Amino acid sequence: MRIEGEVAVPGDKSISHRALILSAVSRGSSRVTNILQSADIASTASVLQALGAAIPPLADDMLVEGVGRMGLREPVSALDCGNSGTTTRLMAGVVAGAGVTGRFEGDASLSRRPMGRVAVPLRAMGALVRLPESGGLPMDVIGARLHQIDYRSEAASAQIKSAVLLAAVMAGVPARVREPAPSRDHTERMLAARGVPVRFHDDGAAVLPVEELSGLDIRVPGDPSSAAFLAALAALADDGELVLTGVCLNPTRAGFFAVLRRMGARVRIEATEEGGELVGSIAVAPGPLTGTTVGAGEVPAMIDELPLLACLAARAVGVTEIRGAGELRVKESDRITAVVDNLCRLGVDAAELPDGLRVRGGTKPLIGRVSTHGDHRLAMAFGVLSALPDSAIEMDDRDCVAVSYPGFWSDLRRVLS
Ligand code: S3P
Repeated sequence: MRIEGEVAVPGDKSISHRALILSAVSRGSSRVTNILQSADIASTASVLQALGAAIPPLADDMLVEGVGRMGLREPVSALDCGNSGTTTRLMAGVVAGAGVTGRFEGDASLSRRPMGRVAVPLRAMGALVRLPESGGLPMDVIGARLHQIDYRSEAASAQIKSAVLLAAVMAGVPARVREPAPSRDHTERMLAARGVPVRFHDDGAAVLPVEELSGLDIRVPGDPSSAAFLAALAALADDGELVLTGVCLNPTRAGFFAVLRRMGARVRIEATEEGGELVGSIAVAPGPLTGTTVGAGEVPAMIDELPLLACLAARAVGVTEIRGAGELRVKESDRITAVVDNLCRLGVDAAELPDGLRVRGGTKPLIGRVSTHGDHRLAMAFGVLSALPDSAIEMDDRDCVAVSYPGFWSDLRRVLS
């Protein structure tokens, strides 16, 4: 199998959510280019519209007129967050901070995901948050006056951190969030770029109040989590090289590429600072892959790439072990159980651990039917394995890639032809 070409992967999902949210609540206009046009970002756009923000249709070049920090209004119907945990948790912070009342709803997968993790700090700030007994959705956030907080989060989660920081900025109060390991820091970088006094700490971040956020022009860099799938395919090829351009290489996101190199792929990275983020190109050429161990310290910077790593491990020599990744159980699916179950269905020697998994690589053709559980990252991770010449993998739902990378299947075909 030969790989070649250059791909500019679509805009980063995390940055796209934040670009829309912060543009909507700033004073003045913001221009957003290269935003990710996917189902999750459409969910954030429609939730913002329901709150009275003027969000134009998603496009490559968008002008957003902000309504200002106090400009959101009470929605007349429920806020439908679709499949998007980031929309739900970040917007819960925004709604709480804006002092309006909203009911958050989502699809079956999202409705099962834990919302107590944002309800707890928002309540500690003075918000009234109602959850069903399951701790999932629907979640009611009821407008109240918030006060400052110094919050110690149990999980290294950017969604929790961002919910608190956004609630504080919207409410005009100070906040500090401490986390057990550094999670992605796009929210605090973008808040700083819009004039919010932000302090970056080794264990988190703190914000101080501002009257208004200022408008900002931002080009959303490519998504490293999307680039990772094509990089893995290149690592598994027999020959050639693939270049992924314009990718966000923020150190809190780029962990997968270091592990790929450690496993034996040839990875060259060139990056420069662009608009407050490290952005660059990643060239990947195949190499003989060997198994590796990933522990808690490495997990946050590659949390969304772990299902893919497990799939890659099925084709590496020896054992790969992932530990300290219990958070995978509360993503769009239980990604530990689902990945191990699917690998076993393909004849791979894989086992669940309470906080991770173990995979022994092999060379037997991968044949069988996998279940995506409607989880976009599972579809793409197994999609990479299905592209190998000796694989015969059927998949129940290929369309769920629309959540984060609608053009995935055509990009996959293009780099292989
Ligand atoms: C995200 C944070 C991560 C990640 C998710 C996007 C974000 O979740 O898994 O895909 O944009 O803040 P957690 O913060 O819950 O770890």
